[in-house]
Amino acid sequence: MSAPNIETIVSLAKRRGFVFPASDIYGGLGSSWDYGSLGVELANNIKQSWWRWLVHERDDIEGLDSSIIQNRLVWKYSGHEATFSDPLVDCRKCQSRFRADKLEHPKISDNVETQKAFEQTPIEELIAIKEFPCPNCGSTDLTAPRPFNLMFRTTVGAASSDEDETALAYLRPETAQGIFIKFANVLNTSRRKLPFGIAQIGKAFRNEVTPGNFIFRTREFEQMEMEYFCRPEDAPRIFEEFIDGFQKWFHSLGISAENLKLYEQSKEELAHYAERTVDILYRFFPEREDEEKQFDELMGIANRKDFDLKAHSKKPEDAEGKRINSDSTEDLSYFDEATKQRFYPYVIEPAVGVNRTLLAILMDAYSEKTNDKGETRVILKLKPELAPIKVAVLPLAKNKPEIVAMAKDLKRKLLPAMRTVYDDTGGIGKLYARQDEIGTPFCVTVDHESLEDNAVTVRDRDTWEQERVNVSELKDYLQKRLS
Ligand code: GAP
Repeated sequence: MSAPNIETIVSLAKRRGFVFPASDIYGGLGSSWDYGSLGVELANNIKQSWWRWLVHERDDIEGLDSSIIQNRLVWKYSGHEATFSDPLVDCRKCQSRFRADKLEHPKISDNVETQKAFEQTPIEELIAIKEFPCPNCGSTDLTAPRPFNLMFRTTVGAASSDEDETALAYLRPETAQGIFIKFANVLNTSRRKLPFGIAQIGKAFRNEVTPGNFIFRTREFEQMEMEYFCRPEDAPRIFEEFIDGFQKWFHSLGISAENLKLYEQSKEELAHYAERTVDILYRFFPEREDEEKQFDELMGIANRKDFDLKAHSKKPEDAEGKRINSDSTEDLSYFDEATKQRFYPYVIEPAVGVNRTLLAILMDAYSEKTNDKGETRVILKLKPELAPIKVAVLPLAKNKPEIVAMAKDLKRKLLPAMRTVYDDTGGIGKLYARQDEIGTPFCVTVDHESLEDNAVTVRDRDTWEQERVNVSELKDYLQKRLS
């Protein structure tokens, strides 16, 4: 079966309670989504997998949960106040608004050379000389691009008005800065030595100009970020290790290698603080004809050098030896006992979006299968570790009290060990189909014979094969197959 497009996933997500449009009873709020009972379980399972893999299994990474709202100076010295913006263009005719950096040169000629020459002219210049048509209405009456800061503004405490600059604060646009400003606290309390990392999972907010494609780009989202502090000379090797490690982690979540791709950012694309950035792309748009355009960013791995620790430090010096930060009270440099040297560590940052990972997992797990009656069924082949529900216990006859009682008792016995549900709201075919569609790895059916032989039928989601298992061995059997 060809890969599903995002629309197929939106429909499944809404139908089965993974993700709903937010505020929809009041007309919705552009590109905002609420996670339902299955969605929140899936997201939690993804976050747990990331945390376990990085923080618990590696033993060189500490956890952190920093504030969403920080002192405004954090965003001054991180550079976000001055530079975290998108270039916005308005069409004066149809009032559409676009990001200049995302506009593509339209096709103006079949002649390859003419088209190439046209594409070499930056879009800003074409807009200025009224040679660039609005992608919506074709008018060339466009405003010059102007920077639009993506940080959400808020006020802290009893501000006299929304314009009160002394109370101004921002919702964090990334979790990373909360980590950098806590470098010294974590270093001192954990008594770590380089290299070591600090990991954090949390919400981030960006007033995106063009959000869209379901949960791919939203204004409120969740990040899993880790800042790995190391000696400058070790940074290139550690960078490569994380590229490799994260691809393996995505594979372990069931994302197939053919839907992942690496993308090395060019010098022009690199953020001002980055020495090198490699994005791991996922095939979010399989319906696009141009294979390159099928892929978009799932995560980024950046070598941020010593930019952030220096920027937040009390007495960092720039190339001319001038003081950069006059507000911080802390020096975030590192003293190496062995060499007796003081320096600012380099940072390798793998930054993953929870929501994009969830979308990629749903897309990769989606499959269809035809049953004996020629009916097409959706099967969500989620890894058992990620499945929101691990087992569904189903009575074959809901009008037989002994069968119902045995099924409910089984559910209660399994519940402490694995998330289990009981369902008797349909015929067995319908109940199986419902569980397949939400990715439940196993269905356990209690039938008339179960009352005699104390055994139940265990059905595998992916193969639809059935096996008879004695109730006394059921928990061990399921635990083994789920791990
Ligand atoms: N600290 C680095 C940083 O924030 P980023 O590439 O801007 O880097 C990291 O963000 C990840 O966060 C992205 O790869 C993506 O998965 C997710 N992300 C960023 N903006 C997002 C948005 N508007 N909606 C959903 N996810 C987003």
